[in-house]
Amino acid sequence: MTEPSLHINLGGLAMKNPVTVASGTFGYGSEYGHYFDVSLLGAVTVKSLSLKPRPGNRPPRISETPAGMLNAIGLQNVGIDVYLKEKLPYLREKNCTIIANIYGYSPEEYAELAQRLEKEGGADALEANLSCPNVHDAKNTCGPALVAQSPQRVKEYTETIRAATSLPLYIKLSPNVADIREPALAAQEGGADAVALINTLLGMNIDVETRKPCLSNIVGGLSGPAIRPVAVKMVWDAARVLNIPVLGMGGIYTADDAIQFLLAGATAVAVGCASFRRPDAALQVIRGMRDYCIRHGIEDIQKLTGALRLQ
Ligand SMILES: Cc1cc2nc3c(=O)[nH]c(=O)nc-3n(C[C@H](O)[C@H](O)[C@H](O)COP(=O)(O)O)c2cc1C
Repeated sequence: MTEPSLHINLGGLAMKNPVTVASGTFGYGSEYGHYFDVSLLGAVTVKSLSLKPRPGNRPPRISETPAGMLNAIGLQNVGIDVYLKEKLPYLREKNCTIIANIYGYSPEEYAELAQRLEKEGGADALEANLSCPNVHDAKNTCGPALVAQSPQRVKEYTETIRAATSLPLYIKLSPNVADIREPALAAQEGGADAVALINTLLGMNIDVETRKPCLSNIVGGLSGPAIRPVAVKMVWDAARVLNIPVLGMGGIYTADDAIQFLLAGATAVAVGCASFRRPDAALQVIRGMRDYCIRHGIEDIQKLTGALRLQ
């Protein structure tokens, strides 16, 4: 069989294969450059960027769980200025396709980040993180209130960011909702080019000896294989009602995991905390997807999107 085509288009972004990495699990790309050629990825998605640098939450910020981990990093990042000056040159030099994940405290902050990244060539696409469980929202300081939990606010935020940029715009949603279709449709109505799902599930771990929470932030976000079936189901739910593509993630460790997401309706996938266990996990996923296509006689990987057989 001839070499299968792995090319896809994610809401206006041409990618050489459907695999990126999940924001916050791959630094700014260069951290993994010792392990493999990161330009082989369909895209590198960088850690959430904010206008100002953020130190994140106090430690402990990570806690191990069965089949996964809890994190409450709190969006520690270098800020957009240092990213553009010190991190971007590596990614551009390597000729990587870049998805810049952005985080702000208001729609206007997201819009400013989007504008600057477009103007200064800092991204090929944007992923707006409306769903971080580890920072308190400016409008509601009594706990982790997520913009992504309100379809109305998802639409407002999306519209404001959309008006600020012509880059492909993805809206990253939260699984901490009753019906993922509502915020997904709101993102589409607001002008998003794709939705990214899922961010982490809210969770909590307690040390019974000390009777204290394992995380300084008390609660955190659960990721890893434990959340994969939840993520696949949410992709399935969202993809059936949307006209825009879905970037699926949550517990992808192997090519088979990634293919589940495509069959459920995702156009592309992101490998997240699997990279902590195996730094080249995303590369192995790409290779395994190619092998799967060859084994199943699939010439074009796009044919797998939504190809779930129900009988
Ligand atoms: C340590 C850590 C940090 C993360 N930081 C971010 C972040 O800055 N922005 C974001 O949108 N998602 C962040 N996430 C969520 C991931 O991008 C991803 O949505 C989630 O972990 C599910 O994928 P996984 O189970 O494959 O890790 C983070 C996840 C982890 C584990």
